[in-house]
Amino acid sequence: MTTKSNPSAPRAQSNEQTDREPWTVRSVLQWTTDFFEKHDLESARLDAEVLLAHVLEQNRLSLYLHYEDKVPAASLQVYRGLIRRRVNREPIAYITGVREFYSIPLAVDPSVLIPRPETEHLVEYVVEHGQDHADSADKGPLKILEIGTGSGNLCIALAENLAGARIVSLDISAAALSVAMKNRRGHPGCSERIHLLQGDLLGALHPERARFHLIVSNPPYVAAESWDDLSPEVRDYEPRGALDGGRLGTEILERILKDGADYLLPEGALVLEIGEDQAETLQAVAQETGRYRRSWVLEDYAGKPRVLVAVV
Ligand SMILES: C[S@@+](CC[C@H](N)C(=O)[O-])C[C@H]1O[C@@H](n2cnc3c(N)ncnc32)[C@H](O)[C@@H]1O
Repeated sequence: MTTKSNPSAPRAQSNEQTDREPWTVRSVLQWTTDFFEKHDLESARLDAEVLLAHVLEQNRLSLYLHYEDKVPAASLQVYRGLIRRRVNREPIAYITGVREFYSIPLAVDPSVLIPRPETEHLVEYVVEHGQDHADSADKGPLKILEIGTGSGNLCIALAENLAGARIVSLDISAAALSVAMKNRRGHPGCSERIHLLQGDLLGALHPERARFHLIVSNPPYVAAESWDDLSPEVRDYEPRGALDGGRLGTEILERILKDGADYLLPEGALVLEIGEDQAETLQAVAQETGRYRRSWVLEDYAGKPRVLVAVV
């Protein structure tokens, strides 16, 4: 965004919208919404609000409580930089450095996938039914393994909502694990129950020493042929290693299904987020292994099959 091509852009140098009117919260939001719409950003108004609230260190509601307030010149200068980044399709969560998941605010950066609302279905299932996968005679804590920690969204949401559960969460990416460590530190009430580990799927664990009631994962599952259909926000900014599921998208999910049963306790289950067109293939793989007594699929609010549960 240059001042030349956008003569009325909120200027850094002064607080003047025109010679007469200063930039207020209202006029900045209106200007930015129009500008984002011209650049085909889908949630133009929301993005404008989130960015301005971030710069002014307020929440979105308080923007409306201060609607006619002047926006200080220094804040406008910072805000302009953020507008430019958003128009270049950088995701809002990377710009602000935070994303909420299961009502928990988490730090994110480009080394981790931005947590998605659909992954909350997986958390809901485990919070509600996790205990069903522990033998009734087993009085110990619920033991959960997460494969693919990312920001730590899943393991933190599970630890926060399952009192006493012990969670091992692993990721191949050291950079992702350091973001997860930072987020774990923000949850002192449950942080000692989350053990973070670097490893390639189950390779770092030994099935005779590490067995779990549940193995949960939101692994990479984008198929090679779908790569070009991803939005620029995802394709150009999110880590490829968090998305790329090989030629058909099911490569990592299949490896987890094939090896996972060895790491489950009796009655234990795999709970996996899957691509909406992958359920049939993956249920067939689960059956072929001969290791799972049954498997079923949970649908999201749009009726799409998004979570596979397979019980040993
Ligand atoms: C789709 S992201 C999920 C992140 C986070 N749990 C979430 O739900 O938003 C997948 C994660 O799996 C990790 N990953 C990819 N391949 C892996 C492998 N072979 N072993 C362990 N982790 C892997 C990636 O680094 C990434 O953090």
